[in-house]
Amino acid sequence: MNIFQNKNILIAVTGGIAAYKMCSVVRLLKKENANIKVIMTEAATQFVTPLTFSTLSENEVTVSLWPENKFTSTDKSVEHISLGLWANVMLIAPASAHTISKIANGFADDLIGSTILSLRCPLVIAPAMDVDMFKNESTQKNISKLKELGYLIIPPETGELASGLKGVGRLPEPETLVNFLEKVLNKTCYDLKNKNILITAGPTFEPIDPVRFIGNYSSGKMGFALARAAKNRGAKVTLITGPVSLEAPKNIKRINVTTSQEMSKNVFNESKKNEIIIMSAAVADFTPTKTEKNKIKKNLKNNLTIKLKTTTDILGSLKKKNKKAIIVGFALETENEVKNATSKLYHKNIDMIVLNSLKDKGAGFGGDNNKVTIIDKFESIEELPLLSKYEVADEILNRVVKLLK
Ligand code: CTP
Repeated sequence: MNIFQNKNILIAVTGGIAAYKMCSVVRLLKKENANIKVIMTEAATQFVTPLTFSTLSENEVTVSLWPENKFTSTDKSVEHISLGLWANVMLIAPASAHTISKIANGFADDLIGSTILSLRCPLVIAPAMDVDMFKNESTQKNISKLKELGYLIIPPETGELASGLKGVGRLPEPETLVNFLEKVLNKTCYDLKNKNILITAGPTFEPIDPVRFIGNYSSGKMGFALARAAKNRGAKVTLITGPVSLEAPKNIKRINVTTSQEMSKNVFNESKKNEIIIMSAAVADFTPTKTEKNKIKKNLKNNLTIKLKTTTDILGSLKKKNKKAIIVGFALETENEVKNATSKLYHKNIDMIVLNSLKDKGAGFGGDNNKVTIIDKFESIEELPLLSKYEVADEILNRVVKLLK
């Protein structure tokens, strides 16, 4: 079956020398009987004329958000809405550093930006630019943001660039772009499509009395990033979270809990329904043996002693409850990190453990970045650089996908 037959493909071309490759992309897609509409930025028209794309696509090409010389007409002024509704998939290629930064920030000051905000279909972005512009921290942060927003990125290739420099930044060949669009339309680009994944996040609060609790510094950001990344890869996500002030991505099942006991009850309830379980919550290891009914009054003469008991080790009990699931745990260590994390992996009978060392700058609680080492049951030990929590989430999921095969 030809997946492109009668599919509406919206192609946005931005200012870059690789714009010329898009002529072949349009031709290849037309041969597959797709309907093509091309929109361009002003900068793109410096490289290829709208007439070229109009001839190849057999459709009008739009550059401006505004009706030109037709001040009574309203049809162009809603074009971004109609294009957004028309498309089955939108491809931006080549996507310049400038356009990428605008999309990452939700700009709607041109036709491409406004169309994206109206879009109801997948958006594929193929960055292409010179090596230094691509590697620049701003561009990398913006691309990471695009991934977080759920947009699909076709990474640029390495080779000779228009500037004469060599490096990463080349727009992949037209066939590669077309193959990627085919995967998007077939939905095979979503490597966790329809997989049920259970993720825990945040701290637990163990009540001492009606106003006090034992908690920890976990912000929940790592678990929420995992939930977002898994959802963006097509998974059906259940997120069980302790008390945090974060918004969960849309279309996931969120269960709020407070104590380790509530966390264990809900995880065990959900565990059989999921093929993948990732315990990123910082579950309390100890809880008060009893919660006082009334607020404990201060007694200046005596210190207060609170008796604690250990909580259920949720992670350590999961393999017994669901033998087939891929189970991933986290370990926060302060010494003999790899050794301790590896022994935790075996001891808890899990498939993978994500190690945070408190000795690493930028690792662990609170921040937006994380530095982790990932150890799996085959004793592969991979130390990752400092990455955003979303990138760490994607790296963890890359390895989970391999274990699923
Ligand atoms: N965890 C759990 N249930 C608990 C405590 C922790 O499932 N009651 C999970 C966390 O979600 C995390 C991992 O276990 O995935 C962290 O383990 P950690 O607390 O570091 O391990 P412990 O076995 O408690 O060892 P220690 O605290 O002595 O390092």
